[in-house]
Amino acid sequence: MLHGTYVSADDIQTFINVADFSETDRQHLQDLAPVAREFVPELTNLFYVRLLVDPVTSVYIEERIEELKPLHMDWLMDLFSGNYDEAFVARQEAIGRAHVAAHIPAYFVAASMAFLRSMMPSMIEEKSQALGRANCGEWVGSVLRLLDFCQFLIDRAYEEARMDRLVQATGMTRKLLENLVMLKAKEKKKPASDAG
Ligand code: HEM
Repeated sequence: MLHGTYVSADDIQTFINVADFSETDRQHLQDLAPVAREFVPELTNLFYVRLLVDPVTSVYIEERIEELKPLHMDWLMDLFSGNYDEAFVARQEAIGRAHVAAHIPAYFVAASMAFLRSMMPSMIEEKSQALGRANCGEWVGSVLRLLDFCQFLIDRAYEEARMDRLVQATGMTRKLLENLVMLKAKEKKKPASDAG
């Protein structure tokens, strides 16, 4: 079972179950790699235009564009590797930590994901038609599931950083703080045979 540094195997499995992320999605994403190679450079450029035209986000990137663009582009291509193992989970968490360390507010990441979700369907449609490929509706569904999974993992890194700061600022133990602020999942229902 997959697990992360911050996210347990059970939580990841529940995410996968509810999002209905299946082997078919993995296969779709892998099949999409040649299509992605066609649109990822353009999508990266458009993403940077969005970040640069906004005066709030531009200050975080304007002096480092040449360094950052390939990093963001590699991340996009990695979505289509078909390999979503523990190393993939660890990479998303590390991305979260890198953005926390660079003081990038979490809502910038949420807004970026919204932008990517809005752009990808038409780009997939256009490029897959050009390559003579069909079934792009199903492909888009698989991409959106994976983007949400990445956002979930990146967000958890932000949440952990907040908890660490609270521990430092209050001197409270991690356990006590977690009990105070975390929403706990309800206990799993026991199978009927265990009841008694
Ligand atoms: C979908 C959202 C985003 C993704 C997936 C993403 C992805 C990445 C990746 C893969 C890296 C390299 C991390 C590493 O070296 O380990 C990175 C670094 C960076 N990103 Fe993003 N990024 C996103 C949004 C943003 C936004 C909105 C900004 C700023 C407005 C930003 C600014 C940066 C900066 C400054 C770094 C370098 C951090 C450092 O100094 O190590 N990113 N990003």
